[in-house]
Amino acid sequence: MSIPRRKDLLSIAPLADEEIELVLSNAAQFKALFRRRVKKVPTLRGRHVLTLFYEPSTRTLSSFEIAASRLSADVTHFSVSTSSVVKGESILDTVETLESMQVDCIIVRHSASGVASLIARHSRASVINAGDGWHAHPTQALLDAFTLREIWPDLSGRRILIVGDLLHSRVARSTSTIFHRLGAEVAVLGPGTLIPDTRWDWLRKFRTFDEALHWQPDVIYLLRIQNERLGDDPFFPSLGEYHRHYGVTDERFARIAGEGLYLMHPGPVNRGVELVDAVMSYDRCLINQQVENGIAIRMACLHWLQPATSSS
Ligand code: NCD
Repeated sequence: MSIPRRKDLLSIAPLADEEIELVLSNAAQFKALFRRRVKKVPTLRGRHVLTLFYEPSTRTLSSFEIAASRLSADVTHFSVSTSSVVKGESILDTVETLESMQVDCIIVRHSASGVASLIARHSRASVINAGDGWHAHPTQALLDAFTLREIWPDLSGRRILIVGDLLHSRVARSTSTIFHRLGAEVAVLGPGTLIPDTRWDWLRKFRTFDEALHWQPDVIYLLRIQNERLGDDPFFPSLGEYHRHYGVTDERFARIAGEGLYLMHPGPVNRGVELVDAVMSYDRCLINQQVENGIAIRMACLHWLQPATSSS
């Protein structure tokens, strides 16, 4: 049975299991191209992809650009900081302008939750949410799932511990959702201010690293402290204090490596806060695989979506 194409990819929750499986299996095929001398395929020749990033990004932006160019699409980066946005142009006016340029796909990142879906509602082009505020980051979740599926083709019963600032993390929202959907057990660890008792009651919550390690996770997924979203509220006393309680310190790393646990992080990493330097060269640290797999996943997503009124 063929699975109908979607116009937009805004979050994980509305995706059917078959849609998730389709993206993961297509990503595996695209990844097989990466070891070839010529990595490019003509799949999206003649299509135009536009990246519209209102928030900073290193890996997500370049990953989408590389993915689009490996599919032979033309790619334009709409530079918000040098555009009329700084002169006060609204999001919808900006989108209307971009619509007139007839792009096929818009990749959006914005600090406010809901902006990607707002744009999707007003645009003929496909929209991919590359992170909206605290809300969602679906391609990150797909690439994380893909990375773990390379290790365990079936995630049922695997235990994944997510550590850190859940409250402000779009990655945690999307990634915990996909891990759960794929059958993994997900637990979280962090200060009570960042993982309130009243939220996420379907997730197991730990308050100390010892308690969480005792649960015997297979994977520890570290989140970046979202400094830009903390405002002036003191969610925890200091970064040093955070590291002592919730970071992978030298001592914890020795235990984690001794037990052969996998470590993940969406990047960018704050060394000395979420983890110590030594983690970066640990052979079960999956950060580089996450980055590489991000390109394959984004190729699969760009290939899968279809703009409104497109004839092919
Ligand atoms: C994440 C993001 O921007 O949400 N980074 C990313 O996309 N690789 C995580 C973060 O910034 O903490």
